[in-house]
Amino acid sequence: LRASFASKAQKENDQNFNYNSQPQASYKVAVLGAAGGIGQPLALLIKMSPLVSDLHLYDIANVKGVAADISHCNTPSQVRDFTGASELANCLKDVNVVVIPAGVPRKPGMTRDDLFNINAGIVRDLVSAVADNSPDAFIQIISNPVNSTVPIAAEVLKQKGVYDPKKLFGVTTLDVVRANTFVAQRKNLKLIDVDVPVVGGHAGITILPLLSKTRPSASFTDEEIEELTVRIQNAGTEVVEAKAGAGSATLSMAYAAARFVESSLRALDGDGDVYECSYVESDLTDLPFFASRVKLGRKGVEALIPSDLQGLTDYEQKALESLKPELMASIEKGIAFAQKQA
Ligand code: NAD
Ligand code: LMR
Repeated sequence: LRASFASKAQKENDQNFNYNSQPQASYKVAVLGAAGGIGQPLALLIKMSPLVSDLHLYDIANVKGVAADISHCNTPSQVRDFTGASELANCLKDVNVVVIPAGVPRKPGMTRDDLFNINAGIVRDLVSAVADNSPDAFIQIISNPVNSTVPIAAEVLKQKGVYDPKKLFGVTTLDVVRANTFVAQRKNLKLIDVDVPVVGGHAGITILPLLSKTRPSASFTDEEIEELTVRIQNAGTEVVEAKAGAGSATLSMAYAAARFVESSLRALDGDGDVYECSYVESDLTDLPFFASRVKLGRKGVEALIPSDLQGLTDYEQKALESLKPELMASIEKGIAFAQKQA
């Protein structure tokens, strides 16, 4: 089996996401929400990583069977299951990476922000446990609304005195995966070569694909730019509507998150050439959290990549200014929630 990802910049990631190669398996990964629509295929993909020695699967229910099933795959990692709050601390002990897809998904007609009331508390409690039990871990948040759940996580970590902004990530890889797919299809490009940075946040107009920064460079008509930008921004809704009440993207999300986890493990393992887009604490704009390409290293975010935001087209510059109020409001909502609960 071999996964092939879509971008040139990620070619080396692809080569390393090779299930047949056998680097040292030495990293511990926990998935919180592992029995869910994302959690199950994500756990399977992580089980296939040659870099993982221990895979801890946590959920409030139904995780025993998922773990028993996945544990039969003859790949290096040991799989353990953990059910309910009383087993969470054990799940998190000494893990290097914690991935959080716990929480409710959208149904047709809902925005991601409509999930806030349920998911904010779930993320707060899970991150609080991470702070107590694995404060050095990379924390990767999938639960929506990502624009708010990442600021919530940051506040919780601050309250616990263990916040390291370099190790807290909102997972926006799916936006890049989608952008690469749609652009390659539209422009008849070889999928493996295409890399489109996607910046901003992860909801509606806050998702800003920078088509002018597409590699290899491609030219787009104004109509193509408008059509592709809107499709990438609405791709999550496209899946929610197609699933007609049965949830949102799970399989493509698991694929995207597995790529982000594998990139993180490669960075932890000393690879000095790992880049991914992620929603992180940032000083690239006047917003405190912002998705951009980042360089990953052993200690998390080694550098933000400002060049993607330089020389934007008028369309992109306008879109960047338009997304700021909505993204800022989502950030402030998350911070206010976490501070009120403290
Ligand atoms: P799901 O309902 O299929 O699975 C969620 C899982 O979380 C369930 O197994 C549930 O038991 C578990 N859970 C609930 N509360 C928990 C808690 N306190 N602790 C541990 N586990 C808990 O949903 P899904 O389709 O897997 O989606 C999960 C989340 O991911 C949603 O919020 C969705 O919006 C989000 N999502 C984000 C992206 C992204 O790009 N970042 C993409 C797709 C979905
Ligand atoms: C996505 O982009 O697919 C996710 O954020 C899930 C959703 O609600 O659209």
